[in-house]
Amino acid sequence: MATHYYTASSLDGFIATPQHSLDWLLSQDFDENGPMAYAGFLQRIGALVMGASTYEWLLREQGEEPWPYSSPTWVLTHRDLRVVEGADIRFAHGAVSDLHPVLVEAAGGRDVWVIGGGDLAGQFADAGLLDEVWVQYAPVMLGAGAPLLPRRLDLELVETAQNRSFVCARYRVARDDEGDSRLS
Ligand SMILES: NC(=O)c1ccc[n+]([C@@H]2O[C@H](COP(=O)([O-])OP(=O)(O)OC[C@H]3O[C@@H](n4cnc5c(N)ncnc54)[C@H](OP(=O)(O)O)[C@@H]3O)[C@@H](O)[C@H]2O)c1
Repeated sequence: MATHYYTASSLDGFIATPQHSLDWLLSQDFDENGPMAYAGFLQRIGALVMGASTYEWLLREQGEEPWPYSSPTWVLTHRDLRVVEGADIRFAHGAVSDLHPVLVEAAGGRDVWVIGGGDLAGQFADAGLLDEVWVQYAPVMLGAGAPLLPRRLDLELVETAQNRSFVCARYRVARDDEGDSRLS
C-alpha cells in the first residue's frame, strides 16, 4: 500500500500554465498503454485525491463526458463545488494527515493517487505520507506556471522509461532514520 504523486510536467517543472492550461501537454505524442503510462498505473489505484484547481480543470475538460475514475475521489477545497452526477466524489479540507487514513481505508488494499497539484503533493510529503513521485516529462519549457512540487524533498530514482516524446521517471521519497520525508 503506497501513496503516489503521478503527474506530467514540462521539462522546467510546471504542471500547468499560469492560466491552468494543459494544451502544451495534450498536444504531445504519448502511448496511453506504453511504458509507465496512466493505464497501467491506474490498475494499482483504489482511491484518489486532488486539489480544487485540478478538479475544476477536470470539470471543464470533461464537459458532458462521464467522470473518468471509478475509485472514490476526494477533492480538497474550502468551497462548495459542483458534484458530477454518478461520480463518487467527496470533499474535505484541512490537514492531509487527517484525511490519509480515510483514503487508505477506501483504497481497500490498493494504492492512493495524489493527482495534484504540486502543493497538495507537498502537503502529503510534509506529513511523511508520500511514498513515490512519478513524472512524465514533456519536451516543452513553459517558463512559468503551477509548480511540480514546490518543496525541498530528496528522492531516489527507481525507474525510467521513454514513452514516445516523454521521459518518464519514477522516484521513491527518501526517508530519514525516523521514517520522515528527508529534507536535507
Ligand atoms: N500536468 C498534469 O498532469 C497535471 C496533474 C494535476 C493537475 N494539473 C493542473 O495543475 C494545476 C494545479 O493547480 P494548483 O496548483 O492550484 O493546485 P490544486 O491542488 O489543484 O488546487 C489548489 C487548491 O486546492 C484547495 N486545497 C489544497 N489543499 C487544501 C487543503 N489541505 N484543504 C482545503 N483545500 C485545499 C485550495 O482551494 P480553495 O481554497 O479554493 O478551496 C487550493 O487553492 C491545475 O491547473 C491542474 O489542472 C496538471
